[in-house]
Amino acid sequence: MNASADGSLCEALIYGFSGLLGAEPEVQADAVLIRAGRIQALGRRADLSLAHPAATPIELPGGLLAPGFVDAHVHPAFAAGRAAEFGMKCEGKSYQEIAAAGGGIRSSARAVRDASEAELTAQVGKHFRRMQRHGTTCCEAKSGYGLSVEEELKSLRAIRAAAQATGMEALPTFLGAHAVPEEFAGRADAYLDALIEEALPVVRAEALARAVDVFIEAGAFTLAQARRYLEAARALGFALRVHADQFTALGGVELAVELGSESVDHLEALTDAGLEALALSGRTFAGLLPAVPHFLGQDADAPARRLLKAGVPYFIATDFNPGSCYTPSLPEAVHFARRRMGLTAAEAFHGITAGAAASLGLGERKGRIAPGFDADLVLLDLPDLDHFGYGLGENPARWVMAGGCALSFE
Ligand code: NIG
Ligand code: FE
Repeated sequence: MNASADGSLCEALIYGFSGLLGAEPEVQADAVLIRAGRIQALGRRADLSLAHPAATPIELPGGLLAPGFVDAHVHPAFAAGRAAEFGMKCEGKSYQEIAAAGGGIRSSARAVRDASEAELTAQVGKHFRRMQRHGTTCCEAKSGYGLSVEEELKSLRAIRAAAQATGMEALPTFLGAHAVPEEFAGRADAYLDALIEEALPVVRAEALARAVDVFIEAGAFTLAQARRYLEAARALGFALRVHADQFTALGGVELAVELGSESVDHLEALTDAGLEALALSGRTFAGLLPAVPHFLGQDADAPARRLLKAGVPYFIATDFNPGSCYTPSLPEAVHFARRRMGLTAAEAFHGITAGAAASLGLGERKGRIAPGFDADLVLLDLPDLDHFGYGLGENPARWVMAGGCALSFE
């Protein structure tokens, strides 16, 4: 069933699903024709098989056929989990206390430095496979656990190699400015200088990342540092994505909007001024990460209902990482988006498909089932959209196709 590496070249007719999600509502189709990795047509199975007798039949066992999910905020370049910290969090220690004691991002940096590029690639590949198993066929993938010029470049190379090996379409983002490394303690500006002068030109020359991100937070980077850094990245032609207002509102949201960032993510501490800036922008997406406060045991969520009411474009992502959200599952993120943020199933679905794709500039090719779109598909074992996110901890993805290739998880 199209599992070979050249499967994307095949013509195939997919049928046997009981409903479609993410297609135009007026479309009456019980079959989808794909060719050369793209969706060619939707229609009646009888008509399509008559017109395309050579198409390989792919019969699905019922369920909802949806566009492959797009996870627009992921940190997959880690070499080891941090389960011990999860225990500390459950016993009451805060994320910031653990980080201040040498844990957190800096501890992941030690593990990345101890891994060879091949070992790190293997780990990233495992993370991508876990995401694919849950229906994610495309993601934004951040570096950020290397915390030196060399280790950050290694992380981006590992992301690229792991994407090739697994068939995950990964859009890499350079997050060298995730934390101040131990060797630069108290000298954050000197670290940013090294990133600007030594890392970004190489990332650009080798096309290792399309975007640059920075963590604006007490204990990470200040607003002034972020401005200088993001302006330098923008001048080199990078798209911007920003971590801001996770624990503290430092003005990062307003800065992201001012600089034309594609997205500003977290927003659990969003202020009225930040919300207004996003509403006026209409261009910078709100990156909603609803499983993170759950994972960290925090009460505050991003004010998703207010953001949607103000017309702010948004996506929902996992933030998959070893410290603040150890899940590769967008269906789980949908559960929290509905339960904690009050989104409808349709709003949450938009957030992991068309919304996420648009935030990455992929709105014309991913996140919908329509002719011309990539043949990225996931079959969900759900009777209807209302059940999406209802079964907490269950993986509804039964079959996944990426770029016209059916994935096998044996
Ligand atoms: O998006 N907020 C900053 N970075 C990650 C957490 C990274 C970690 O703890 O390893 C996040 O939540
Ligand atoms: Fe993050």
